Amino acid sequence: MKKVRIRYDRIIILVLIICLIVFLILGIKHIIYTHTYEYKFLNKGYDIDTIKYFETLENDKKDYILSIDYNENLINILKEKYFMWKNIDKYIAYYNENKDKTMEDVIAIVNVNANYDWYDSNIVKETDTSLNEAMLVNKFNYLPTNYSDNLDIVDIKNWYAFGERKIIKTVYEKYIEMYNDAKKEGLNLVISSAYRTNSEQEQIYKERKDTKGLEYADSYAARPLYSEHETGLALDVFTPEYPTIESFENSNEYKWLIDNSYKYGFILRYPKDKEYLTGYKYESWHFRYLGIDLAKKVYESGLTYDEYYAYYIEK
Ligand code: DAL
Ligand code: ZN
Repeated sequence: MKKVRIRYDRIIILVLIICLIVFLILGIKHIIYTHTYEYKFLNKGYDIDTIKYFETLENDKKDYILSIDYNENLINILKEKYFMWKNIDKYIAYYNENKDKTMEDVIAIVNVNANYDWYDSNIVKETDTSLNEAMLVNKFNYLPTNYSDNLDIVDIKNWYAFGERKIIKTVYEKYIEMYNDAKKEGLNLVISSAYRTNSEQEQIYKERKDTKGLEYADSYAARPLYSEHETGLALDVFTPEYPTIESFENSNEYKWLIDNSYKYGFILRYPKDKEYLTGYKYESWHFRYLGIDLAKKVYESGLTYDEYYAYYIEK
């Protein structure tokens, strides 16, 4: 029988080659892994669940996350319903300074620019009036000086109003429909103010400032060019039995307006407890015309118009 000679030297070489190949493959795999987002996020200190969420983002967003310091709150910011990428740095900065606030509030405040002082000259800008009924007029968005030149302004009939008597036609028509439907339910709506000229707004603001001081004036009255009343799209509505700013919210007319005004295109513009977003104290009487479709969407969103505009219209 022929004796098989085992060539140990060849086996050793073969084993060495196999080991080399395995190490090479593992080495290459590792090098490839170090280039993945998962590896980089882990290296930054993020946990696997957070990384899984980051992985769903576009690459430029992932790169952004890698470019900033580890932030344990980042995931909570990203998951907020009204989060917008364009504001990411501002959310982080504002939250760092205001850790007592909920993330929902941080997002809302930054979205409407309320992280700045009201009327901050670095932020204020002329509003986009081409949006017509959807335009935003607030403490950061003012009207062009000649805005009211081409408005279709009509007189309000006596029985619809006390106080100022001007209104724009489209709003008037919708108001009358609303007024008539309220009347059928035994309710009596009265307009105390609708369209105001720029100088009327100036007088109102000045009068409040002179009698009650700057803080009070700014809580209830817009500075000239910053008032929705100058667009003709805002109405102050009361009822003869509850004709004051203190009492109107106790009326059935108010309750009816809250539940129904959106059907005619109006929303309550300065809701209770939203001063930190609107810049105004609760105004149970100030309704803003947005058109029926938009008013319904804003009503259903539960947002102030400032928030809705920032998220859905301006973007
Ligand atoms: N009262 C509202 C804020 C205005 O003056 O326009
Ligand atoms: Zn008003």
